[in-house]
Amino acid sequence: MEALVRRGLQSPDQALRLLGVARAICVGLSRSLPALAASAEQFAEQYPKLKLKVNGREVTVPEGTSVLNACREAGAYVPTLCTHPRLPTTPGTCRICMVETGGGQLKPACATPAWEGMEVQTATDKVQESIRGVLSLMKANHPSDCMNCDASGRCEFQDLISRYNVKDVLPKLKTYSHEWDAEVQADFEHFHDSSSTALTLDLEKCIKCGRCVTMCGQVQQMNVLGMINRSRMAHPGVLIEEALDHSKCIECGQCSSVCPVGAIVEHSEWRQVLDALENKQKVMVVQTAPSVRVSIGEELGLAPGTVETGQMVAAQRALGFDYVFDSDFSADLTIMEEGTELLQRLGAAWRAETAAQDAAAGSWAAAKQGHGEGEAHGHAPGPLPMFTSCCPAWINLVEKSYPELIPHLSSCKSPQMMMGAVVKHYWAKKKGLKPEDVCLVGIMPCTAKKHETERKEFRNENGAYDCDYVITTREFGHMLRHKKIPMPSLKPEEFDNPLGEATGAAALFGATGGVMEAAIRTAYEIAAGEPLPKLEVEAVRGVKGVKEATLTLPANDTTLKAGVAGKEIRVAVASGIGNARHLLQRIQAGEAHYDFVEVMACPGGCIGGGGQPKTHDPDAVLKRMGAIYQVDKSLALRKSHENPSIHKIYAEFLGQPGGELSHKLLHTHYTDHSVDTLPSVRELGGSGEVAKRAALTAAGEMRYKRIAMVGDPSAKR
Ligand code: SF4
Ligand code: SF4
Ligand code: SF4
Ligand code: FES
Repeated sequence: MEALVRRGLQSPDQALRLLGVARAICVGLSRSLPALAASAEQFAEQYPKLKLKVNGREVTVPEGTSVLNACREAGAYVPTLCTHPRLPTTPGTCRICMVETGGGQLKPACATPAWEGMEVQTATDKVQESIRGVLSLMKANHPSDCMNCDASGRCEFQDLISRYNVKDVLPKLKTYSHEWDAEVQADFEHFHDSSSTALTLDLEKCIKCGRCVTMCGQVQQMNVLGMINRSRMAHPGVLIEEALDHSKCIECGQCSSVCPVGAIVEHSEWRQVLDALENKQKVMVVQTAPSVRVSIGEELGLAPGTVETGQMVAAQRALGFDYVFDSDFSADLTIMEEGTELLQRLGAAWRAETAAQDAAAGSWAAAKQGHGEGEAHGHAPGPLPMFTSCCPAWINLVEKSYPELIPHLSSCKSPQMMMGAVVKHYWAKKKGLKPEDVCLVGIMPCTAKKHETERKEFRNENGAYDCDYVITTREFGHMLRHKKIPMPSLKPEEFDNPLGEATGAAALFGATGGVMEAAIRTAYEIAAGEPLPKLEVEAVRGVKGVKEATLTLPANDTTLKAGVAGKEIRVAVASGIGNARHLLQRIQAGEAHYDFVEVMACPGGCIGGGGQPKTHDPDAVLKRMGAIYQVDKSLALRKSHENPSIHKIYAEFLGQPGGELSHKLLHTHYTDHSVDTLPSVRELGGSGEVAKRAALTAAGEMRYKRIAMVGDPSAKR
């Protein structure tokens, strides 16, 4: 109970939310959490109960429950805009959730605690009139641009306008031709921000609900976005009114995943992909991330957690892709490279520990034989802990805010970019094609991966891209709807080989802890000379923000010979930047010691990615996670090093994991971008005018320097 209070649990509403999560985890995923569920249940139980009536129906709820949750308990519909189940707090600003309480008073349901004997009405004329009034005002302030808007058809505001049949009763306060007052006109550049290669801000469409600000500040603890100005002029934006690209933004896209309208969206590329498919000037190849197969069905209206792998492959062929490959293959490749790198770093650390281990270095090297010798190719093992490098938003965070950690990052490219290198430099050659004859499209859960493809390290000397386009799960759904392809009813098909064969370990990459579990399955077996006692590593499973485990190498012929018997491998996993920051603080303060750390920027990992289907189901991420574990379990091969196509590519082309060619094609390097990223107002010492002016000066200087160095930073391909 104390632990729950320490975690900031202060109300029955929060306890009920945690209880729901804990129950789902206990039922579906792990046996280790019944205690948490019991504590949450007790926490909710300790509150005295109260009775109230909603539309005449009596409900009993713990004291402190909001009227909104009491209405939901009673099965009554109340519209919401600023409230969202993935956000820890509700700003209570949109005023759409009005209900009538005793005496005919209107109150916002999300911001009003229920009380004993309360009588709530959710659908009286007065309530409906209030909701229509708020929607009319919002509509008058909203451009009529639905036909061109990527949120159309999945827009919460559009749904409410339709449901409440709101006509244009007020004159437009804004028009899409930007003819409103001069002050707003002057502010135009802050309303349209396309400086980021991952996200586009069109704040004319903003309904000022504040969800993006809460997500960025409270969940991700990035504090990039804030509410700027007051009253009608208020809008979310980068705190010092600069372009997103110049800020500390890591392009995780979590803000876009809760935006109820089309004001913050992924940088859209699905139309270019359709053009490329229809023009047929290149060989069209697609790769799909592990988490998309458990979420694309949901985007198309199926239940969260529906696995649609075969139907998805069929739909990609129906769209016109010539070759359908699987990023799970390159996830297996990542494990071979990252596992080798980890063993090299561990070997170096263990050898340095004692003179006896130094003496055993020769036999340790022998144990690694066949699994790569990075040192031999001039790549000295880096320091511990080693951090994973699959998540480009995490890489952005390190490069912009924690550059001192760069040596700790694995040098492995992400699975998306490993596939890019393999398709353009191995597969294309086998097919007698030049890299520029091939157009590779990635379908990802992620907005940051759009930015990743733009990194100069991932282009060849002619500027050609290893991965040409990246579209999100939402954009993929858009394409299928646009082309009227009935994906769920298609006959399942198989991926193309050899870059479509993958193991269950690779499937795990879609969920937090998955990269770690996949790496442990391979690295442990290589180091210990025997398989893990149990393939499922329960300690790193589930949605908990930070997880840890310690593995001890057994004493057997292999480990005794290598002098590593009894050695421990300490691992940690964090998902969500808020959680990652806490873990980093503990590591940097010397309070926690690990050898290998997985960080994924999105809460829950890629299944909760910024490009995944927008949802109000509080258990959606858990359901997707259950589906990921189901995919792993259903496959015959569940360890990356057992993938026959992986063996083949090393035998035929790459040589050995960590070898010279592998390093050239599958590894990368990172750059300290803290020097060309704006400090936040907070970093400059507060939110006052002095700090703001200092930040604006820094912005001007930085922009000048960047333009002098690399040209206009907002220039796009
Ligand atoms: S992409 Fe992530 S870091 Fe950037 S503004 Fe949105 S939530 Fe904040
Ligand atoms: S950008 Fe979207 S999420 Fe942010 S305040 Fe505007 S409507 Fe709300
Ligand atoms: S956790 Fe996954 S979806 Fe989120 S930014 Fe990282 S790679 Fe992208
Ligand atoms: S949902 Fe209640 S005020 Fe916005």
